[in-house]
Amino acid sequence: MLDIMDAMAAAAQRGERPSIDDILQTIEFLRVFVDKCHHTKEEQLLFPAIRTAGMLAVEEVIVSLLADHAQGRGSVSRLATLVQRLLDGDESANSALADAVSGYTRLLREHIAREESDCFDVADRELPPNAQEELVEGYERIEREVVGGGVHESFHALLDRLSEAYLS
Ligand SMILES: [Fe+2]
Repeated sequence: MLDIMDAMAAAAQRGERPSIDDILQTIEFLRVFVDKCHHTKEEQLLFPAIRTAGMLAVEEVIVSLLADHAQGRGSVSRLATLVQRLLDGDESANSALADAVSGYTRLLREHIAREESDCFDVADRELPPNAQEELVEGYERIEREVVGGGVHESFHALLDRLSEAYLS
């Protein structure tokens, strides 16, 4: 999705008018799949488990990852505001939207790299087996309750469609 968003931003920076519908569906993906699903798993399950296990070396990383999540939510709200301005006929919102999309992908790429190198690996190595089992069960529960049946499939279909439109 981040590659698709970069391609959307590049097109908008060249002055092409983005498809509002594609952007609205992208925003929905970011809200549900990225925020409600991934960030909720970390905020409600993984980070508390790391804290309970007393892995103090990771605490600073967790604080920065939580700050990224908050910033990401703010960025997504800004995307929604800018789309609304475009819908209201404010063409100046186009380049602001391109910048906001690029800013979001930069934030998320750095975030993902930092959580993989400084958080997930350590958690895999150091969390006790029972905590790891509880996490797996919890992740499955969030998938069921927060994201819901059929939603993953529809997001995969969206990714296929947008990849075709923007990356080929
Ligand atoms: Fe995260």
